[in-house]
Amino acid sequence: MGNIRVNNYFGGRNLQILFRLFQLLILLPAQILPVSSERSARQAVPKFLPTPTNVTVHKGELAVLRCHIRNLGPKLVVWRRSQDESPLTIDKMTFSPEQEISVNYKKISETDSTWDLLIKNVQSSHAGVYACQISSKELYSHHVTLHVIDEPPDWQPELIVKGTEYVEQFNDIHLTCNATGVERAPDDIDWFFQGNRIHTSNPKWQNRIQVLKKKPIPGRSIISELIIQGSTTKDQGNYVCRSSDLNFRSVQVHVLNADKPPIKQRGLERSAHNSDHPSSAPHLTSFHKFVILLVIILAFR
Ligand SMILES: *[C@@H]1O[C@H](CO)[C@@H](O)[C@H](O)[C@H]1NC(C)=O
Ligand SMILES: *[C@@H]1O[C@H](CO)[C@@H](O)[C@H](O)[C@H]1NC(C)=O
Repeated sequence: MGNIRVNNYFGGRNLQILFRLFQLLILLPAQILPVSSERSARQAVPKFLPTPTNVTVHKGELAVLRCHIRNLGPKLVVWRRSQDESPLTIDKMTFSPEQEISVNYKKISETDSTWDLLIKNVQSSHAGVYACQISSKELYSHHVTLHVIDEPPDWQPELIVKGTEYVEQFNDIHLTCNATGVERAPDDIDWFFQGNRIHTSNPKWQNRIQVLKKKPIPGRSIISELIIQGSTTKDQGNYVCRSSDLNFRSVQVHVLNADKPPIKQRGLERSAHNSDHPSSAPHLTSFHKFVILLVIILAFR
């Protein structure tokens, strides 16, 4: 980023004197040299490109106050807190005594450049209005308000359930639950169907259900995947993911009753065999299949 720090060499008071000198150097040539001022008047006027004027960050995070400028020309960019005389940065130099503050310059095109002010490890004292200014006879200012949320980020426990809300009959239901704790991952996750805890040993689910759990490291999350193979309308209903922190969320799964079972016929047969109370419909379809097969075999003899 090529920032030059001068705050190590100048105290606060000297800084202001230095800044005054800077202002003189910047403004004087334009005032005493009408030719050059005429020439710059013919040049396109600088303008701020639209960037967020309201920035909200959590305490401890990095704040990026954006300032994108078109047609800066030879002028300099100054960042300051709007109520303060002394600048935070001038051009690529940092004048603030705070090590956390710097300016990120990037040329985007022939005419455009970015002059973002970066504040690392934001504290409540950093909240307020900042101005990105172009030093010239006319004052060009772009104001950005920084809001600081007092607590560090991600301190809320979270639980997210994603997956198949609509599934065609005989296809798989696939739900994923991501439970995040405050300081560490919850110990475990349980799944419920229509209010009853799902046990993989339960005859209803046996041999067609899979529950995969993992705790990504680093992180404060536990992730559980629920996969139900060859869904039938009996699997339609309310699924709940509950973490051992007793955080929970539910999702409604709809099994669409298609006219014919085109896909996953093997899954269907297996689920029909393994079910304690097989419905008659799958057997009928198996029978149909058998008849069709027989017809084909006979036809090609
Ligand atoms: C800026 O954010 C604050 C707090 O988040 C809000 O109250 C205010 O209305 C916002 N202003 C604009 C212009 O969006
Ligand atoms: C789980 O949720 C947390 C918090 O929202 C998130 O940071 C994390 O990336 C998620 N993990 C996965 C694998 O989606």
